[in-house]
Amino acid sequence: MNAPVLSAGRVRPAAPVPHDRALTPLQVIREMGRNPIAAFGIHAYQERYIYSRNWVQDFMLVGDPDGIRYVLLDNAANYHKSIQFQRLTRPALGNGLVNAEGASWRFQRRVTAPMFQPRHIADFAALMREAAETMLERWSHLAQGAEIDAADEMMQLTYAIISRTLFSNDVTMQYGKMSEALAVYLETQGKVSVARTLGLPNWFPTPDNLRARGPLKFFRGELMGLIARRKAQLAADPASARHDFLDLLLTTRDPEGGALFGEAEVFDNVLTFIFAGHETTSNALAWTLYLLSLHPDSDARAAAEAAASSDIASLVYTRMVLEEAMRLYPPAPIISRDSVGEDTLGGFKIRPKTSIMISPWVLHRHRKLWTDPDYFDPERFAPGRREKIHRFAYLPFGAGPRVCIGMGFALQEATIILSSILRRYRLELVPGFPVEPLARLTLRPRHGVKMRVFRR
Ligand code: HEM
Repeated sequence: MNAPVLSAGRVRPAAPVPHDRALTPLQVIREMGRNPIAAFGIHAYQERYIYSRNWVQDFMLVGDPDGIRYVLLDNAANYHKSIQFQRLTRPALGNGLVNAEGASWRFQRRVTAPMFQPRHIADFAALMREAAETMLERWSHLAQGAEIDAADEMMQLTYAIISRTLFSNDVTMQYGKMSEALAVYLETQGKVSVARTLGLPNWFPTPDNLRARGPLKFFRGELMGLIARRKAQLAADPASARHDFLDLLLTTRDPEGGALFGEAEVFDNVLTFIFAGHETTSNALAWTLYLLSLHPDSDARAAAEAAASSDIASLVYTRMVLEEAMRLYPPAPIISRDSVGEDTLGGFKIRPKTSIMISPWVLHRHRKLWTDPDYFDPERFAPGRREKIHRFAYLPFGAGPRVCIGMGFALQEATIILSSILRRYRLELVPGFPVEPLARLTLRPRHGVKMRVFRR
């Protein structure tokens, strides 16, 4: 059951009901392909560790915050990005920051980190506000109660913002074509399949791999053009430098050795930051708007706060709402690692190449960690209560050395966009619209989120 359910006067937002019997390995693979978050049984939400061995791999789901801390931080060197994750993302994102390991990862992180320092992010606030206002100006021409797809609107807006802030608006990939290509890529590559579990390479002509070729060709064609144009500009006139993210990728030298990024590394990171930098934030916002439409009191309180101030630091309730929305609908629902060497975790002996899964989706709804885990309650994140949440029990942005580099950027952007919308509009879910969370690398609403827009 996915639709919101009214129980004892409270709304349970859309989520698959965990099944109460163990699935066979084949059923798990099938369910993982359909929708991974529907594959978890009730035990996953109750146990601290679930360990299993099958004919393909040793596997462990970790739901213990201390165990998660161990994997992501204390012994992070022994837990690399998983092969499964790499198979899903490598065809598009290559060896960019999300996928790289070791010295290559350290170099890429060092080069890209300055762009995401708080001072730099604060400079982006005006561009973020401007982009949000452009969307709202378009909405102002809509009739009262007109229908929009909030998921699509948020995607369009966050895409415009990533293009403006990191690439000085030079990304010429048209939104419609880009989002269609991205949707096909995620649908065909962003899931576990039998072919992938068996380790077939991505060039193998399965129907999914064949369908993914179009989007990959499109991304390559569009972005290689962007990179080549910028390189030529910089070479012809170094004073034309915009000092944006693309310039940074093209001109920063590794402090250890002085090397520049190669062409492949620049391309991989351009695509990595376009994708990682807009799709997740967009989904966070779409889920937030959905939740607010189910909870008019929270909606009214956040709207009143937005009307009183636009200063980000004073939008405390807005931030609580966003954090609670990312608890219920974490835009990155699964974080996975593979063990490199032997280890012991939660009393279990871990062999090399064991697949370790940490699922923010499961963790954020864990029966032992949260009260009424399936219900929306922003008060969990109220100042004073927020600090009592275990750092490794709430992981929308991951943790440890691989923590999301764009966390500050995303939180600022989401706060600006949400408060700008709420100040002027109230959004109502179209009655009966089937909202369904679907995990495809990110957590997307399968059919979008159809909403009616009302001026306040
Ligand atoms: C609400 C929005 C966002 C969410 C929920 C989110 C979530 C995450 C998570 C969970 C990880 C860690 C994955 C792992 O440990 O395996 C991550 C990494 C990453 N994120 Fe985000 N992200 C968001 C926004 C952004 C933005 C705005 C950018 C860039 C502008 C970005 C760029 C990245 C990159 C490049 C990494 C890889 C970092 C590394 O491995 O060193 N993300 N993100």
